[in-house]
Amino acid sequence: MGVHQTSTAPRRTRLVSHARRAMVFGLGKLLVGVALMAAAFHLVEVRRNGPLPPVYNIGFLAVGMLGFFVGVFTSFADLKSALQWLRAARRSADDLGPHAFSHTLDDEHRLHVLTPADADAFFDLITHNHDFLADWLTPETLVESRADAVDRLHELDEARRAGLVVPVGIRKAGELVGVVGLGPIDSKRRSAQIYYWIDQTSQGRGLVTRSCSALLDYAFEELRLRRVVIRCEPRNTRSCAVAERLGFVLEGTLRQCERRGEELIDLRIYAMLRDEYAGAHGD
Ligand SMILES: CC(C)(COP(=O)(O)OP(=O)(O)OC[C@H]1O[C@@H](n2cnc3c(N)ncnc32)[C@H](O)[C@@H]1OP(=O)(O)O)[C@@H](O)C(=O)NCCC(=O)NCCS
Repeated sequence: MGVHQTSTAPRRTRLVSHARRAMVFGLGKLLVGVALMAAAFHLVEVRRNGPLPPVYNIGFLAVGMLGFFVGVFTSFADLKSALQWLRAARRSADDLGPHAFSHTLDDEHRLHVLTPADADAFFDLITHNHDFLADWLTPETLVESRADAVDRLHELDEARRAGLVVPVGIRKAGELVGVVGLGPIDSKRRSAQIYYWIDQTSQGRGLVTRSCSALLDYAFEELRLRRVVIRCEPRNTRSCAVAERLGFVLEGTLRQCERRGEELIDLRIYAMLRDEYAGAHGD
């Protein structure tokens, strides 16, 4: 198993630089908002006894107030992100915590735990593949903004530290090209679900199958789970093929068990038990 901790120093530097950038943007927007408001009041004051009718003053004030409120509102989002980056940086100075999964797939591709430092890359990857993924993934996964991506990856990071999920990035020469993960992990029943998605142009190379195979080693050997499940729609043939290629057993189909938008969808349940994994690995 290739599970190890990586050096946290460059990661920390990156997080601090994200925080600094978000802070500069936030303060910049705040300043622009305040400046617009001050300029509007100044114009009104200067033109108090001028030739322009009062309606112009109302216009100046409206623009000033709008600028102020937009500036304040958007700067709060940036400042919130900055605080989250700083929190992540402080934590990364210690260590990545439990389940810091890492594994080398081949010369080019590597798996490494997904952390808040991946928020920008995560958002860009989802945005780039939005139409491709929208048919298959839940709306919570399809984050709509960078701030949502930061929040989502923070939630996942907390859940990983609590032992509930193992979120992992598939990286090509360091660049995020897909996500696989274990979760939710039910430690009482010693079971978990595997989920996955990948950049459309990176399909067809076995990256997801090989990544899931490495996660299965982790699930059965390190976490000592008894059962791992894959849930996918019958019409998602590529996803079903991953489960079948890995040797999962089709246990059945839950009919109209989930809502996707207006539609009720069926889900196939594929599972692998500890004994089946051990049998396939010659134990
Ligand atoms: C589902 C999804 C992850 C499958 O991706 P994928 O690229 O088909 O899966 P893999 O990376 O395992 O690649 C398998 C292909 O690589 C080939 N391959 C090449 N080398 C391989 C290797 N060493 N091991 C396994 N397969 C290999 C396989 O033969 C297969 O080829 P095919 O596409 O001609 O059938 C992808 O289609 C996706 O992200 N879909 C949208 C999101 C989604 O549906 N997620 C799942 C929700 S349940």
